[in-house]
Amino acid sequence: MRHLRSLDDLGPGGVVRLLGLTDHMVDIGRRAMPKVPALRGRTVAMCFFEDSTRTRLSFDTAAKRLSADTMTFSVSNSSLNKGESLRDTIETLESMGVDAFVVRHRSSGVPWQIARWTSAAVVNAGDGWHQHPTQALLDAYTLWTSLGRAPLEDGRPLAGVRVAIVGDIKHSRVARSDVDAFTQLGAEVVLVAPPTLLPPSLEAWPVTATDRLDDVLDTVDVLYLLRMQRERLGESLLPGLREYTSRFALTPERAARLRPEVRVMHPGPMNRGVEIGVDPARLAHSLILDQVTNGVAVRMAVLFDLLAQGGDTSTTVSALGDRHD
Ligand code: NCD
Repeated sequence: MRHLRSLDDLGPGGVVRLLGLTDHMVDIGRRAMPKVPALRGRTVAMCFFEDSTRTRLSFDTAAKRLSADTMTFSVSNSSLNKGESLRDTIETLESMGVDAFVVRHRSSGVPWQIARWTSAAVVNAGDGWHQHPTQALLDAYTLWTSLGRAPLEDGRPLAGVRVAIVGDIKHSRVARSDVDAFTQLGAEVVLVAPPTLLPPSLEAWPVTATDRLDDVLDTVDVLYLLRMQRERLGESLLPGLREYTSRFALTPERAARLRPEVRVMHPGPMNRGVEIGVDPARLAHSLILDQVTNGVAVRMAVLFDLLAQGGDTSTTVSALGDRHD
């Protein structure tokens, strides 16, 4: 893998390969000293042109656990505010010696553009409404482990699992990447949203769609709630949040109806009282904090896959056994 801009960059079988590699990283995270020298001497630049808490911090933690050096770029006190172009900013950072750029930007396609300007690896940490591949990998890993770790050999460890992704699909890069990851692994996905919050065409999406959450609630194994992305609701697409909540949120009434084995997921940050009206800690099976925990290991796997010496992960994985000195 040269870049990770969308799951397509992983190639066939790539999601399954990353699930296996993530297992090694989870083991490292459980050690008393959760750090290995695998990426010593490599530099990872965190370029977040849009707000982030968990994604930025988990990439940062992941890089440090692999002993990479990190640089953090933040827009608010950068020369972008003095009129410097994105290209000049990237070239300036690259001149200091960067092996990977982790990029979040509010415009779709920016990671592809940056990949044309630099010889470093580019990891997409979320571009506009478009893609968020590491979120999809951490969601896939979280589901796979929570549902009993079906064998990876046939490439479809989520076969037979029915996932409802609920909410603002139209503006969600998480939904786009998750649909790719879940369906590649064999799951069946149903999108649940008001028609105004679905993309204009679902032709290329391997999914079904409905605007009636109550009709599918009893048929799904996983309820994946999306954040209502109010910052992206340019037009008035909703009659009102109260109406949305009554039809699409996980209210206490719906939570009481859920079979206890149904997994509830959310990428965070949550809008309590909008898409979720219950305390996740009180749900029988919330995976929301597991998603955050697994985010670090998945991002270690991605950085390792991109940057480990020689680029051949199979020959370098054994080096993960090394303790940090
Ligand atoms: C998501 C994002 O930024 O796309 N958050 C995240 O990375 N955990 C989802 C969101 O903001 O709704």
